[in-house]
Parts: sequence; structure tokens; C-alpha cells
Amino acid sequence: MTSPINSIGVFDSGVGGLSVLRAMREQQPAEDVIYFGDQGHVPYGPRPMEQIQSFSEGITDFLLDKSAKLIVVACNTASAAALKYLRERFPDVPFVGMEPAVKPAAETTQTGRVGVLATPATFQGALYASVVERFGNGVELFQHTCPGLVGQIEKGELSAPATREILEGALQPMLEKNIDTVVLGCTHYPFVIPLIQEIVGEKVRVIDPAPAVARQARRILDARGLVNESNRRGRVEFYTSGDAAEMQSMLPMLLGEAGEPKSVQWRNDLEIILPG
Ligand code: DGL
Repeated sequence: MTSPINSIGVFDSGVGGLSVLRAMREQQPAEDVIYFGDQGHVPYGPRPMEQIQSFSEGITDFLLDKSAKLIVVACNTASAAALKYLRERFPDVPFVGMEPAVKPAAETTQTGRVGVLATPATFQGALYASVVERFGNGVELFQHTCPGLVGQIEKGELSAPATREILEGALQPMLEKNIDTVVLGCTHYPFVIPLIQEIVGEKVRVIDPAPAVARQARRILDARGLVNESNRRGRVEFYTSGDAAEMQSMLPMLLGEAGEPKSVQWRNDLEIILPG
């Protein structure tokens, strides 16, 4: 099968970016997409920034080789570590990145107290500091890195006792501080919204940024005249640096559609090659 021409490239450390892809498929069903999950390297969160930058560059090269017209960095961690670098390194390529949705949270909180769940690298990056400085004014933010949660979601353990334990450990102390909003600053976390909502109760607002990111992708395509105006439903090609069968088994549950991922390999952690 040849690659779709003029696709949107979407990448994440693993299956987390599927939460963004899900929103994009709802809003822009005609677009062809190439999805890359770097499951050979997941999780990104505890890794050094330079390494995440280097992975992100290799993946961007791979997606551009496959005619990506826009790249959605569907990963808060990669956005924190690499978005600025990618924009400098590939000045002609439009990128859409993620940042924790502190702005809408700060605009709507009644208690003035907001919880933010994200990975260690996301909290350490300059992007988060700048979001807090620009939008967090007057709001008290409570952060948690939810160790182990990305791994649970990668295994499809969306409601397992161990998953609940991690989330309770993060959220109970925040509830004691009277938060009324939880920002999901990692694209894996929307898949456990039902569990989060069970723990925090219906009165606490949980913010999934995926629909806003999908809208932003659409705006950029519009501005550049790159929207696919076709009436047919676009195709999605899936690639993983991990186990293709495992990713395949997760797609119906996480994305709501089936696919046939292909396995790729990293050469020296710098370049992605198709085996065979
Ligand atoms: N999905 C990711 C994010 O949005 C990365 C999680 C990880 O690999 O640690 O941050």
C-alpha cells in the first residue's frame, strides 16, 4: 500500500496520542493520517529532555518522508521537550503541539484551586513554566506526575485496581485542597476519565484538551489551504516501534476503529527504518 499523500502526521510515545487522533477523526474525518507510537521508548516522561528531543526529530523525519503536511505532536512530554526545537529545525513544517490546559481551568475555576496531572518532563520544561506564568494568575495549582499510570494505560488496564490506586494517590490530596478542576496534561490520561470522574465526583471538571488541539490543527490547515475537501473517510496508517499486534489489539478500545499497525525499528535511536 502506498502512503497517503498529504497526510497529517501524529505522534506520541505510545497510544496516548490516540486520544487526540480520536478528536481529529470526529472533526476532520476526511483527512488521511499517519500515526506513530514510539512504544519501543515509552514512557517518555522520566527521560532527559535531550533524548526526547532526539526521538521527536527522528519521528518527524519519518513522518515527513511519508508526505506529512502537518505534524501534531500529540504528546505533552514531547511538546515540552522538543516543540521549540522542532520548529527551529524544520522551519517550513507546520506543527501543532500540546500544553497543559491551565488557561481554560483558570478561567472557570470557582475555588481558585486546580489539579494538574502530567509527566515529570512536562512539569520540568520551560513550556509549563510559561503557561503557569501567562495563565495561572491567582490560581493555586497542585501538580502530580502519577508514576506508573502511562504504563497501565499502555497495557490497556483502564479500570484495574492498580490504575485506581495510582489515581487515588494523586487525586485524594488534591480533593482535600478543594480543587474543582483537573487538567489532563498527558495525552494518555483521557482514557481513564471515567475512573478519574468516579474518584473526584461529578462536581469536579476534568479537562481533556484533545478537541481543542484538533480544532487548532484544522485552523492551521485552513490557513495554509491544506484541508482535504474530499467526501470520503480518510485512511489512517499506524506505525509503532513496539509490538504491532499489541497496538492493533488496543485500537478498537482506545480509538473506536480498527487498523493494521506496522512495526518499525530505530537505528541507533536516531533514525526509523521499516524492517525487511
Ligand atoms: N502521552 C504522553 C504525554 O502526553 C507521554 C507519556 C509518557 O510517555 O511518559 O505526555
